[in-house]
Amino acid sequence: MRTYTNVFDLGDLKTALAEAFEIKNDRYKYESLGKHKTCLLIFFNNSLRTRLSTQKAARNLGMDVIVLDVNQGAWKLETERGVVMDGDKSEHLLEAIPVMASYCDIIGVRSFAQFESRTDDYTEKIINQFIQHSGKPVFSMEAATGHPLQAFADLITIEEYKKKERPKVVLTWAPHPKALPQAVPNSFADFMNEADVDFVITHPEGYDLDPKFVRGAKVEYDQMKAFKDADFIYAKNWACPGVTNPDDYGKVLSKDMGWTVDSKHMAVTNNAYFMHCLPVRRNMIVTDDVIEAPTSLVIPEAANREISATVVLKRMLQSL
Ligand code: CP
Repeated sequence: MRTYTNVFDLGDLKTALAEAFEIKNDRYKYESLGKHKTCLLIFFNNSLRTRLSTQKAARNLGMDVIVLDVNQGAWKLETERGVVMDGDKSEHLLEAIPVMASYCDIIGVRSFAQFESRTDDYTEKIINQFIQHSGKPVFSMEAATGHPLQAFADLITIEEYKKKERPKVVLTWAPHPKALPQAVPNSFADFMNEADVDFVITHPEGYDLDPKFVRGAKVEYDQMKAFKDADFIYAKNWACPGVTNPDDYGKVLSKDMGWTVDSKHMAVTNNAYFMHCLPVRRNMIVTDDVIEAPTSLVIPEAANREISATVVLKRMLQSL
């Protein structure tokens, strides 16, 4: 595997899940694979889970790890070609990428949507420059429009907890005070559309996700209707994707607290499990009682981030 940015990079999902459970059963099985190999993790944005789980995954495979927080201690990077660099940015990404690549074998990049240009975000301008100019395998640790390590961990979690062959999985928008990217819901949809689940997306009107990720999924604007008989509820906020009106891209169109996942919502489900990628704003996205219930999977879901990252890094090491 040379790149990991979406579900299709994993190939057959049943095979990927089998590898995930093999690793979960013995996470050090491939510890000699990464000997004398270095994984560089580059963060343009904050992280708790991705930062820790990906380092752990690399070490499970015997790799050395370097973590770079671009905005803390490195030179400020220019990302646009053709800019006269007379401002506060001292180094261009076009030099920085090959330099960083010369110190490692595999590169992970976290670079969120900037909400300045829908086109720039949806063409994945930053991570694609790493793919193009590094000459090394590159994986997303959450890019502008996708978070495939999270979505793979989510799929592993659903596979572990499902009580029927084809569970009903609902992705629901929920309110948040700030404008958040669509990376997590996009990737969740990307994976659920390829998985053996009955997948429904629910959100207020105007929040439609990009058709590239929605594909054949059912979209239901009535949240209670969507929740009916669900086996898994996956909550997430996202800012307006600008599908119906590009001028609204990145805007907060609603803070309707009627969409907060509470016990009234969960009561119409099939005793559904609650999922969220974390970090989560309690009593905005989900009430205390729902996230603290025995049916909440937020902790095992986060723990599975180590497993999804180990599978991806193992496949990248095997491609060197
Ligand atoms: N879910 C997730 O990616 O968490 P972090 O932003 O803390 O890495």
